[in-house]
Order: sequence, then C-alpha cells, then structure tokens
Amino acid sequence: MKKLKVLSVFGTRPEAIKMCPLVRHLGTLPEVESLCCLTGQHREMLDSVMDIFQLKADYDLNIMQARQTLSGITSRTLLGMDEVIETAKPDLILVHGDTSTTFAGALAAFYHKVPVGHVEAGLRTGDKYSPYPEEMNRTLVGRIAELHFCPTVNNRRNLEQETVSGELFITGNTVIDAMKTTVRPDFRFSVPELNSLDFQNRRVIALTCHRRENYGEPMREIMEAVRELALRHPEVEVVYPVHLSPVVRECAFGILKDVPRVHLIDPIDVENMHNLIARCDFVMTDSGGLQEEAPALGKPVLVLRRETERPEAVKAGTVKLAGVKKQDVLALAEELLTDRSVYETMAHAVNPYGDGHACERIGQDILWHFGRIAEKPADFSAKA
Ligand code: UD1
Ligand code: UDP
Repeated sequence: MKKLKVLSVFGTRPEAIKMCPLVRHLGTLPEVESLCCLTGQHREMLDSVMDIFQLKADYDLNIMQARQTLSGITSRTLLGMDEVIETAKPDLILVHGDTSTTFAGALAAFYHKVPVGHVEAGLRTGDKYSPYPEEMNRTLVGRIAELHFCPTVNNRRNLEQETVSGELFITGNTVIDAMKTTVRPDFRFSVPELNSLDFQNRRVIALTCHRRENYGEPMREIMEAVRELALRHPEVEVVYPVHLSPVVRECAFGILKDVPRVHLIDPIDVENMHNLIARCDFVMTDSGGLQEEAPALGKPVLVLRRETERPEAVKAGTVKLAGVKKQDVLALAEELLTDRSVYETMAHAVNPYGDGHACERIGQDILWHFGRIAEKPADFSAKA
C-alpha cells in the first residue's frame, strides 16, 4: 500500500521543540513518509533545535526578517507554502500550537484542500488579544483542522464547546516526550555562565520573557521587578537567556544590564534550557512551554502574564499567575524566596500535560484516521 505522506510545518523555537520528536517518530512508522517544512519564522533559535534532534528540513521557506510584522510572516508563509504543497503533494499537513506559522501553514493547506492535523489543539484563554496574536491563531486553526490532537481533557472540552468539526484525540503534550531525551542528571552545560553557577548554595531563578502583549510598559515593569529582586536579595542569581527579538533585547539590556547577579545571556539550546530548569530554584516566565516543563520537573513557576491557557498546573498548585505589575511580581518572588512552606507547596512534580508517549499516540491516531489500523487508539488520561 502507498505510504501516507505527512508534512509537518513549523517555524519557531517552541514549535520545533514540540514537533521534532513527532517528525522523528513518524519517520519510524513503515506506513508513513515523514517530511518537514520549516518556514524559518525564527532562524538561529530554530536551527539550534533541529541540530539537537538531528533533523534536516525537506523544505525551508527562510522567511525571517528583523522586526518582522504579523502580516509579513503570514503572507510570506502563505506564498511559500503554495509551491511546497504543489511539489510534495502531502496527504496530511501537521501544524503545531498558535504561532503565525501555525495559522498560515493551516490556511495554505486549506487552500489546497489538504487535511490539517493540529498538534497542541484546544488551548484557550478566551481573550482574543491575550496572548496576542496566539489566541486568535489557534482558534482559527481549530476551524480549519480535521484532526485535533489535544494535550489534556480540558483542551478537548474547549473544542467541544466551540463545536469544531473533525476528530478529537487526547494525546498528552509532545514536550514531555522531548524532555525524555534532553533532561539528564549527568548533563554538563555547554554554556560557561551556567557551569560557573553554584546551584546547591545559591537561589537560582530561571527567567524568560518575550510575549508581544508584554511589549512596552508590562515588560518594563517585569524587568524593574527583577532588578529590585536582585538588588534586595544577595542570595539570588537570575539567569535570563534573552530572546533574539530586538524589542525584547532593548528592554532587557536597558533595565538589567550591569545589575549584580543578573546574568543576561543569549538564547541557549533546548538541552541546556531543560537542564537549567531541572537545577534551578524556581522559574519566572511569560512562556507557554515553560509552564509545562517546570511543573514536570517539580519547579515552582511564576507566570508573568494576566491569564494562562494552561490552567492545569495552576489548579495543581505549582504555577501562580503573577500578572505584569512590578509590585505583584516582586511580592510573589519574595514570598518564594522567604517562605519555605509556600515554596515546598509549589515545588512538587505534577504532570497533567503528558506521559512521554504523545508522539506514539498521534502516530496511531493518524493511521486510524486513514484506515490503516482498525481500532481507535486509547486517549491519554492524566493521573495528576
Ligand atoms: C514568536 C511567536 C510566538 C512564540 C514565540 C516563541 C508569532 C506571531 N509569535 O514570537 O507565538 O511564543 O515566537 O519564541 O508567531 N529573531 C531572530 N532570530 C531568531 C528568532 C527571532 O533574530 O532565531 C528576531 C527577529 O528580529 C524577529 C524577531 O526576533 O523579527 C521576532 O520574531 P517573531 O517570530 O516575529 O516573534 P516572537 O516574539 O519570536
Ligand atoms: N527555551 C530554550 N532556550 C531558551 C529559552 C527557552 O530552549 O533560551 C525553550 C523552553 O524550554 C521551551 C521553549 O523554548 O521549551 C519555549 O519557547 P518560547 O518561550 O520561545 O515560546 P512559547 O512557549 O512561549 O511559545
């Protein structure tokens, strides 16, 4: 029987971290030809993930520009995808999550009447401007997709409420699969700043902050809170791998450069990042992915946003929404530093997001959808 041609389309760091294990797994299935198209919405940060997972792209649209606009990313991806789809003629296109690559990749597939599978489907805040533009991207992809791979039962419920068409599966999140290969107790950092940190005796905080809705005043307030925290607490070391966006870098370096014990470093590869989280005291972030990874590693997380589409770990008590006001962020970080019982309550490993077998489930779900196996595979059910 002819192999199923599955084309995975992604373009940013978090999509790559969560899609590379899937592309690799699909490549091991005898019924599938697994192809991969990068939009190149990110360049260095994307290539670093491809290197770690030892993957080579079959197609690369290479669309990134400095200070790119949302319309620019979307239109360059749409135009580039036309040729790729005409050449590759895939049976299924997989997109991931909620970036502009995700939306434009799904729309291009729809224009060519190729079915879309949405990995990490069904996350919602209910506010179309937060996260921006991600909430709208993923909602629109929900209308286009025919296969919805939901990490959790809560994500599936969101899609049921929107009465999306197609098939809904609960698979767990592929990031937990990725962490099986990246997190190692004997890992040695390849970044000198990280190797010189004393994780046993210092309170090491891992920080990331990059979201578009935080650009401007919210990001300034967050950076001011971190500055104050470092100045007030000599026991603290803040490690901040600063995103390559010039908007983010101007803000971060403008406020935090030369602040003692704040380490502003370039983005680190995913192995270094996951092992940094595994060894740090706690995490402060506006990232989506870190809200899944840190709880799995038993690390408290302060989310530098007003809302989250990942309520599961908030409910489990390991994640708190800190908001974006200086005093609120500072107060919650100081509480974690000074109140042992608050820290201990938050620092327990919970993993509502997956069991490390999401890629296998997605592979089986695809085979079932195309009639290559008879029985519908079982859904993931979280024990947390
Ligand atoms: C994008 C996604 C966001 C995701 C984030 C993950 C959209 C609209 N946003 O946001 O959902 O959470 O990625 O990081 O899809 N840059 C480089 N090199 C790189 C990567 C970025 O120089 O490897 C710079 C470029 O100047 C680029 C800028 O960063 O223009 C912003 O990149 P962009 O993808 O537009 O936005 P992000 O904030 O990264
Ligand atoms: N990450 C990384 N290097 C860094 C910062 C983050 O590998 O310097 C990883 C992080 O562990 C997570 C992902 O990148 O897996 C999150 O990406 P990002 O914050 O850019 O996007 P989001 O998850 O918010 O969409």
